[in-house]
This record gives sequence, structure tokens and C-alpha cells, in this order.
Amino acid sequence: MSFRNFRERVESLPERQTRISQAFYFKQLPSTQSDVMKRARLAAPSGTLIVADGQSAGRGRRERTWESPLGKGLYFSLLLKPALKAARAPLATLAAGLGIGRTLRELGISELTVKWPNDLLIAGKKTGGILCEMASKKDMVDYLVVGVGLNVATEAADLSPETAPTATSLKLATQKDWDRGEVLEAILPGLMDEIDRLASGGPADLLKRWETESGMVGRNIRFTKDGGTSEGKVLGLEEDGQLKVELAGGGVARLLAEDTTLCS
Ligand code: BTN
Repeated sequence: MSFRNFRERVESLPERQTRISQAFYFKQLPSTQSDVMKRARLAAPSGTLIVADGQSAGRGRRERTWESPLGKGLYFSLLLKPALKAARAPLATLAAGLGIGRTLRELGISELTVKWPNDLLIAGKKTGGILCEMASKKDMVDYLVVGVGLNVATEAADLSPETAPTATSLKLATQKDWDRGEVLEAILPGLMDEIDRLASGGPADLLKRWETESGMVGRNIRFTKDGGTSEGKVLGLEEDGQLKVELAGGGVARLLAEDTTLCS
């Protein structure tokens, strides 16, 4: 199938992927995430996908900015309504990362790993991030918005001086040109499969596969918690998705949403 452009490919996605109920493309938005959160509050259906060519106020975790230069990356948010206990919503980030990571490896990016809780790395540098936000009704997820930013054609010069040293893109890492539409179409099913599996089968299977596939278990990491920096070895995940770390100085830490850095 051939497409005239990225926009046509995005807007025709519901014809090829049954779980995508509607898909809209925008040249530039402040943030696809804020846009989908607004639509979710107005009762948009599960499977609503918003894709932008660029974002002027892309949001990352912890109130950070997600640099979104025009035409260089994939910036999208997907509204899902999984039958998931609200307490398990943090696992959706891990599930989405696992699904996307696996697809990118299948596309040939063998060095792609996921870093807890939401980073996609190639050879240790960040190429993508996932931001999950949700609303609950009683103790269940009412809706979940999965936002994904993936540096695809980004060059070092497209990134700010602060981001450039620790970031990469599919192009920078593989020296190949990637079609953003193809990558988007490839990663959506894996992402949605993992969230469906989590909702229907519970967390045990996801946690086991994340521990095997992420490549993080056994690695030494550094993190900042309660104002202090510590180092330790990753032991695995708790049932609610917290990261269990054996501290270098003795004891075990459980991380809820802290940033982690892999030590070499
Ligand atoms: C992170 O690593 O902190 C998460 C980054 C998530 C960025 C994506 S880009 C598409 C969507 N819209 C946003 O404003 N943020 C997410």
C-alpha cells in the first residue's frame, strides 16, 4: 500500500487497525497528550489516536519538556479504555514500553532496550519516552492516555545542548532513514497487545517478561530518592511495578517513579 504522505497514512489507520477507532493528524499542536486528555474528558472513544508532526509544548514525565522538532519524530497519544484496576495503571507504562521495544528490535534495532520506568534507549542513549496519564472511576481505570515520543530522524543539531549528549534517534543510531508512518503503524499493535494482555491476564506475566526483556535486571543503577543519590543492583519488579534495587551500602530500595541512570 502506498501513501501520499504521513498525514494520509495516519488518517487511514482505522481502515487497517481495528483497535484504532479514529485517527487525526496535526501539523503542529502544543501537545498531543493534552489534546487527547481533553477529548477523553469529552467521551471520545477508545482507540482515538492523535499524531502531530511537531509540538510546541510537548510534555515529558515530571513536568519536563519533550523536545518535538517539526517532522523529526513520532509524537502521538492514544486513548484506551482497558478494564484495569486503577492501582495497576502504573504497569501500563511498562507494558507500552515492552511492546514498543520488542517491535523496534524486530525492525532491526537490536540494541534497543527499555529503562524503567518509561525510557526507550539505543546503546544507552534515550531515543524515546512514554507518558501514561489516566482517570479512574471507583477503583477502575476510566481512561488511559498513552503518549509516545520517539526520535526518528532527529539530528544532534535538532536537540537542545542539554538533551543532545544523552539522546539519540533511530537515524543517528542506525545511520538509516526511517519512515515515521511505517514505524508508527508497526509499533501500535504491540503497544495495544501488551495493554490488553495486562488487562485480561493480570500483571504476573508482564512482570516476568519485562524482567527478561528489558535487560535491566542485574544492572547497576544510580538514582535519587528522598534528596539523596544511591547506587545498587536491579533485582526486579514488585507486583505494582516498583523497581526493587539491592543497595550497594546494604538493604533494598523500592522505586516508585524516580529517574534511574544505568552505570556502565
Ligand atoms: C518522557 O520520557 O518523559 C515521556 C515523554 C513523552 C512525550 C510524548 S510526545 C507525544 C505525547 N505528547 C506529549 O506532550 N507528551 C507525549
